[in-house]
Amino acid sequence: MKKRAGLFSAVLLGVAASVVVAAFASAGSAQNPQTSSATVPVDVDTASLRGPVQPIFYRHDVHVVDFEMDCRYCHFAAEVSANPGLPTMSTCMGCHLIAGAGNPEVEKLKTAVAERRPIEWVEVHQLGSFVRFPHHRHVNSDKGRFEGLDAAEKCMECHGPVDEMPQVYQFATLKMGWCLDCHIESEASRDCTVCHY
Ligand code: HEC
Ligand code: HEC
Ligand code: HEC
Ligand code: HEC
Ligand code: HEC
Repeated sequence: MKKRAGLFSAVLLGVAASVVVAAFASAGSAQNPQTSSATVPVDVDTASLRGPVQPIFYRHDVHVVDFEMDCRYCHFAAEVSANPGLPTMSTCMGCHLIAGAGNPEVEKLKTAVAERRPIEWVEVHQLGSFVRFPHHRHVNSDKGRFEGLDAAEKCMECHGPVDEMPQVYQFATLKMGWCLDCHIESEASRDCTVCHY
């Protein structure tokens, strides 16, 4: 993925949401996901894609590549907390008050907001409760395999090419051997109590 210092870095620095709405109201009409770099049209059978079917067909490939969104715009806590967090509906509505009107998947989002009904995203990754996994320690690290990577590249070192996934699937095994291989290579801790409660 290319390094980007554009609009979304500015958003992360706190530029008013209204600027984003204005920018994407025009981006939405100028860039149709079906004709741009995204490979899968909106009206597909999502059950045929890898990964669990989600209540709304929200596409990472479209938002991350076509709209150049930073992972941390939505997974806002990745650098400061064990859990990266999922976006609230108001994060989506910053753009979707305007963008994508009439798209049936966007209409599902708007209906949920109007009915004040939270979207129940299906979990893709789930470690056993006896394992500790601190996202921030990884995302902030420049050791070993993370050396020289930007934030999105660090995410994708573990999560695979999310920027090419119309529907997110589990890329790595998440087994102990997967963690240890990288910890050995990166000279990170292999102490049992670091990962286990
Ligand atoms: C516009 C908001 C948005 C952006 C930007 C975004 N995501 Fe997400 N992400 C979501 C939503 C919503 C979900 C839950 C639904 C789903 O799985 O598609 C999610 C789910 C995920 C999951 C699966 C979580 C689980 O249940 O285990 C991963 C991994 C992930 N995102 C990684 C990334 C990465 C890496 C990037 C940047 C390349 C990124 N996301 C950018 C909104 C976003
Ligand atoms: C920065 C602006 C922005 C944000 C934030 C954003 N979107 Fe979008 N989204 C767009 C644009 C622009 C389109 C393309 C609309 C069109 O086709 O006219 C789009 C398209 C979509 C679509 C249609 C299918 C697809 O993915 O192309 C869905 C569903 C969608 N967004 C859901 C969401 C959800 C859910 C969130 C919050 C997790 C979100 N969006 C956050 C700008 C945004
Ligand atoms: C070192 C590997 C690694 C890196 C780097 C990493 N993740 Fe994860 N991610 C994981 C693992 C492992 C889980 C499962 C955690 C669990 O179940 O406790 C996970 C879970 C998630 C989830 C689901 C959380 C939930 O609430 O269920 C999201 C969203 C996510 N990661 C996004 C990101 C984003 C965005 C980045 C980059 C900013 C990132 N990850 C970087 C390994 C990684
Ligand atoms: C791609 C490489 C990579 C993978 C995969 C990975 N880690 Fe790490 N992990 C690191 C690095 C590098 C550090 C050290 C961060 C630092 O100190 O800069 C680290 C640090 C940690 C820490 C904090 C250690 C301390 O000393 O406090 C924990 C806990 C941890 N990892 C758990 C896990 C678990 C659990 C998994 C598997 C689910 C995992 N990691 C997978 C690279 C990785
Ligand atoms: C870098 C992180 C990490 C370290 C260090 C680590 N483990 Fe694990 N361990 C894991 C993960 C991840 C799993 C798999 C969790 C899952 O399947 O959800 C696991 C699973 C296990 C299991 C369950 C195995 C099974 O088949 O279900 C045992 C027992 C275990 N570890 C013991 C240890 C012992 C003893 C040590 C020290 C010698 C150790 N672990 C060090 C991350 C780690």
